[in-house]
Amino acid sequence: MSCRVSLSVIRLALPRNPTPIAKPVSLTLRASRLLVRFNSVSSVSTLFSMPERRPFVRLPTDVYPVNYGLRLKPDLVDFTFEGKLEAAVEVTQGTNQIVMNCADIDIITASFVPDGGEEINATGFNYQNEDEKVTLCFPSTLQKGSGSLKIDFVGELNDKMKGFYRSKYSSSGEVRYAAVTQFEATDARRAFPCWDEPAIKATFDITLIVPKDRVALSNMNVVDRKPYAEDQSLVEVKFATTPIMSTYLVAFVIGEYDFVESQSSDGVTVRVYTPVGKAEQGKFALEVATKTLPFYKDYFSVPYPLPKIDLIAIADFAAGAMENWGLVTYRETALLIDPKNSCASSRQWVALVVGHELAHQWFGNLVTMEWWTHLWLNEGFASWIEYLCVDHCFPEYDIWTQFVSADYTRALDLDALDNSHPIEVDVGHPSEVDEIFDAISYSKGASVIRMLHNYIGDEDFRKGMNAYLLKFQHKNASTEDLWECLEQASGKPIAAVMNSWTKQMGFPIIVVDQEQHGSDRVLKISQKKFCASGPRNDEDCPNWMVPISICTSEDPSCTKTKILLDQPETTVNITNVAPDHWIKINPGTVGFYRIQYSSAMLESLLPGIRDLTLLPVDRLGLQNDLFSLARAGMISTVEVLKVMEAFVNEPNYTVWSDLSCNLGVLSSLLSHTDFHEDIQEFIRDLFTPIGMKLGWDSRTGEGHLDALLRGLVLGKLGKAGHKATLEEARRRFREHVEGKQILSADLRSPFLM
Ligand code: BES
Ligand code: ZN
Repeated sequence: MSCRVSLSVIRLALPRNPTPIAKPVSLTLRASRLLVRFNSVSSVSTLFSMPERRPFVRLPTDVYPVNYGLRLKPDLVDFTFEGKLEAAVEVTQGTNQIVMNCADIDIITASFVPDGGEEINATGFNYQNEDEKVTLCFPSTLQKGSGSLKIDFVGELNDKMKGFYRSKYSSSGEVRYAAVTQFEATDARRAFPCWDEPAIKATFDITLIVPKDRVALSNMNVVDRKPYAEDQSLVEVKFATTPIMSTYLVAFVIGEYDFVESQSSDGVTVRVYTPVGKAEQGKFALEVATKTLPFYKDYFSVPYPLPKIDLIAIADFAAGAMENWGLVTYRETALLIDPKNSCASSRQWVALVVGHELAHQWFGNLVTMEWWTHLWLNEGFASWIEYLCVDHCFPEYDIWTQFVSADYTRALDLDALDNSHPIEVDVGHPSEVDEIFDAISYSKGASVIRMLHNYIGDEDFRKGMNAYLLKFQHKNASTEDLWECLEQASGKPIAAVMNSWTKQMGFPIIVVDQEQHGSDRVLKISQKKFCASGPRNDEDCPNWMVPISICTSEDPSCTKTKILLDQPETTVNITNVAPDHWIKINPGTVGFYRIQYSSAMLESLLPGIRDLTLLPVDRLGLQNDLFSLARAGMISTVEVLKVMEAFVNEPNYTVWSDLSCNLGVLSSLLSHTDFHEDIQEFIRDLFTPIGMKLGWDSRTGEGHLDALLRGLVLGKLGKAGHKATLEEARRRFREHVEGKQILSADLRSPFLM
């Protein structure tokens, strides 16, 4: 099962929950990503008998950094590095020890020089390995005031893809190594001793001593480059002082790269660094990044504060991408597009990842979460706004419909499991921080922010966002701080509404029935917790504050009535609805809940699917709810399959994609049963008309979504054993292998599935 974030390496080491039964992630956004992306729902420690841990303690604040002067000299042959830290610090209370984070680093010497005073050498370094801390002990009291902390240290350029690590690549048939960093969440401490907590911000002056034929990059632009006095083969590269920032956003890269460069309309120099000889493959990301920076500047009404931004493809990379301020690192597949060989879904993925990481430059980097508990907000927000950005840059992608299939329904599936967890969880020790980078933080986070944006309205939402960014820029903030700004901008009870979605796990199923009273339609609406394993008769069923909008067939894209449901049930009277008009709850499929309509209401919606008057996103949502209810045993699967007949005229790629996944789940469930051939035949019949319509070859003037749809439909027909499709696929594959007729990039994935 593929999913959202490829932190696979980190996560493989973690205990996992049994894989939840979720829909096999849509072929939509994720087709090109072969790696399992991340824990669907992170491991919840209560499920495992973990050894008792000492309570986690944050760093003391009696000594804190103001500026890190950091010199690093990596050795790309021995895989070690030497470091010199000269940190300007403030002592707020007299002490004879300094506690910092430090992991897998050997300190050689440490001393403290009070401003205008004598140097005091540390007499001991007490490593607390499990807590990833070191205590520097001094023979006398460091008095309140400013001073300089000097530490010489050595470390290993490790092969663990975290901290300061080596990344392997080949150049003209020769194996070589680059030295790169990945610090989020808590691995800056593996590159230099530091106060590695997001709220302990400081400025950084970084100098790298590197072989003179290598590219050296860091968060800021180069201000000086000179030969290294002790070794002619090396150069000393000094970077400009950073703004005040958190350690997890610091980055440096030393290696061999080519780049393409452009200037965004707001004057920022943008470069995309690629492997040598592949600069061409950086052009697509460059175009996205140069369009995205001014988009965010305008959306947030806050300019990007650095003079440059580099986006770089790293050969060995654990995550998909990392938003280091001014030097964003990417897995190669999340940044590079080969104009000849990359398919439409790869292009879309690159656009989304670039949109996501650049959003963090404001939301995360400029304003940073106070502690990792608020990480969901960082990631959920970026996972929402990446779609807004891609919709701006590529309206032809119809990306919001894809959001519903890729993130929203995925989050609903996972959050309906008993082993889900609230979005907002308390975290302490680094190992707990890693656990929360999961689909609940990302996809549910993004979905509830989308719901919130819709509840507030774009204008007030932007007003609140701007107030938040201005108030907390270069500082730290919590989830509550954002709610407060949005509450002030909108006059709505944001904290109360949002707490019900972020502090308790799960979501409601909204049960709806209707009666016609003259020209009025009276709806009976109730909420209860939706469980993937079926309804429960819990006494103390939680309540959500559910923004519910309602539309009718008179105008399916326009909300006719809105309510905020904060009780178990209510009645809503809608005036002037003709008896033959249908009612749809949750137009746009923005509310984070599932809906169970009475049979009559559902029946009345079918013509809206058939004649396409219901929006694509609503056709998708309706179908997805039905499959989910069937899986939970709340309605009959046969009834759901009957509804599928209403999709005969369906033209929309994402609707087909979601439907295809749901039928795929059913087909898997029925495999090795007597019904398997029946469901395969059902799938063949459903997909044949659209397959015939699309054909095998793209037509002139076709768009992005046609390319995606063709791959999806032919792949589905092939999987369902459609003979003509399989024969033609074999013929085309033979011709491809023989070099007679090369397969188009968009058909390769379904062929190789
Ligand atoms: N900040 C994360 C990357 C990260 C998270 C690194 C946790 C290390 C630990 C970054 O912004 C991110 O979310 N990356 C995603 C891609 C994104 C488009 C969803 C990823 O890595 O897959
Ligand atoms: Zn992110």
